[in-house]
Amino acid sequence: MQLKNARIIITGGASGFGYHMAMGLATKAAHVFVVDVNEDQLLRNEYASNITTISCDLTLPDEVEKIAKTIFNDHGGANVLINNAGIIHSEPLINLLQRPDKKHSISNWKKVIDVNLNAVFYMTACVAEQLVTKKSAGVIINISSIAAQGNIGQSAYSATKAAVEALAKTWSKELGMFKIRCASIAPGFFDTSSTRSSLNEHMLAKWKKSVPINTLGNPDELMMAVEFIIQNEYYNGKTLSLDGGLTL
Ligand SMILES: NC(=O)c1ccc[n+]([C@@H]2O[C@H](COP(=O)([O-])OP(=O)(O)OC[C@H]3O[C@@H](n4cnc5c(N)ncnc54)[C@H](O)[C@@H]3O)[C@@H](O)[C@H]2O)c1
Repeated sequence: MQLKNARIIITGGASGFGYHMAMGLATKAAHVFVVDVNEDQLLRNEYASNITTISCDLTLPDEVEKIAKTIFNDHGGANVLINNAGIIHSEPLINLLQRPDKKHSISNWKKVIDVNLNAVFYMTACVAEQLVTKKSAGVIINISSIAAQGNIGQSAYSATKAAVEALAKTWSKELGMFKIRCASIAPGFFDTSSTRSSLNEHMLAKWKKSVPINTLGNPDELMMAVEFIIQNEYYNGKTLSLDGGLTL
């Protein structure tokens, strides 16, 4: 698909990767829809004139259905979905220092599954239904993580990222006949506010050192990977690894 014809929905576009991608892609694409639960941040941010912002908690399937209908019926529709919204959560399966219950909290487990996995399913099902009904070609990109390979202390996060990669593979097989391609991108450590708030300086320096090229990723590089997948008609089903060689 040519970028100039892309009408892109970016979930989680109020901050971090999502905001960066929305602003960058808006300069090349026809239209960008930003969907995020953080209404205050959506109002605080400046967005380009071809960006429509929509506030929605993507863990609520009825709300997701409503906003998908609004995008397709009232705002000219979309042909690219970037499932980017997510929460990073670190918690060991067993915490010996925690009393009396040493096990991973079930409510934390459910919350991470809800945002990082269930919401991806709800949003993609609604968008794919619209695309198939309108006989429109499309591209769906799931933002995964190197955690899909299994990160120590991140049971829930790792499970959701492996699952969204599996969904992209499944959907690429199911939806290929409708000219809808699906793929994932698995970023390593990027220089974003969420990375800086989840890792202290010492941990950041340690991770940087373990990347063969000794640097954190720049959000522009994630955007370039998204542009590649949108434009390359033969890229389908796979996970594009974007980690500076960390997982080699
Ligand atoms: N930052 C990194 O280095 C990194 C590395 C690998 C993968 N990722 C992945 O990239 C994606 C974006 O991460 P980020 O670092 O930009 O995080 P971020 O916290 O800056 O942005 C995430 C956005 O998702 C939104 N969101 C959360 N729950 C939502 C919900 N229920 N409904 C709608 N929106 C919701 C938040 O409001 C926020 O604006 C995530 O999926 C994350 O797992 C990030």
